[in-house]
Amino acid sequence: MAWHLATGRLLMRRFTAADADWLAALHGDPAVMRYIDDGRPVPGDVVRAQTLPAILGEYGELPDGLGFFAATEKAGGRPIGWRGTAELGYRLFPAEWGRGFATEGARALVQRAFTELQLDRVVATTMTVHIASRRVLEMAGLSLVRTFFAEWPTYIEGAEHGDVEYAVTRQAWQEAGLPVAGLTVSRADAGSRAGGHQPSSRSRSSPMPK
Ligand SMILES: CC(C)(COP(=O)(O)OP(=O)(O)OC[C@H]1O[C@@H](n2cnc3c(N)ncnc32)[C@H](O)[C@@H]1OP(=O)(O)O)[C@@H](O)C(=O)NCCC(=O)NCCS
Repeated sequence: MAWHLATGRLLMRRFTAADADWLAALHGDPAVMRYIDDGRPVPGDVVRAQTLPAILGEYGELPDGLGFFAATEKAGGRPIGWRGTAELGYRLFPAEWGRGFATEGARALVQRAFTELQLDRVVATTMTVHIASRRVLEMAGLSLVRTFFAEWPTYIEGAEHGDVEYAVTRQAWQEAGLPVAGLTVSRADAGSRAGGHQPSSRSRSSPMPK
């Protein structure tokens, strides 16, 4: 089986072309997109013609285990949403909110960033008013670094409060004692290409291609 990361309830794996329908449904949901980019749903044809091909194309350029990953329920394989690891990010179907899935996945990815990938720092940004996302970042061990005001091409409600950047260093994460029990990582090829990639902080949310 190709690379995947399993937590208690979730399986995170690379996207395939077969994920187009549910990814289009996720990005086409106004509630999901409320705090992201221009705050509007992305048309299904854009997801199929641009977003998914860009995600798949990125796998060829990034170290194994970085990029965007489909998150499915371990039991049954139901799609829950996705996570990004170059910069910590997540997007889940509204029906799955409030069940701790975002926190469970984020903790696992932070742990992996500091262990397997040997990164020194994990960062994430979100809108200041996006309380749920900020809470997930805090529960994953990240702390507020700064509030900033970036130029966005379109206004969405709450933008006047700016965006927040969160981060955690490997040392702080180790001191906080957050390691997750029972995390398993599998990969098809044993060779590790991880190491040099440093997360960046550039967008209102994890920089998912349009
Ligand atoms: C943000 C998102 C990932 C959260 O997912 P989730 O599965 O509900 O997250 P969790 O259940 O792990 O935890 C959410 C936490 O935020 C809290 N929370 C949620 N809404 C809140 C609100 N309006 N005010 C205060 N706290 C809130 C929850 O109570 C919970 O904290 P707790 O465990 O201390 O009670 C989900 O809402 C989502 O996918 N939204 C659409 C995409 C998106 O905005 N992504 C982030 C872009 S930066």
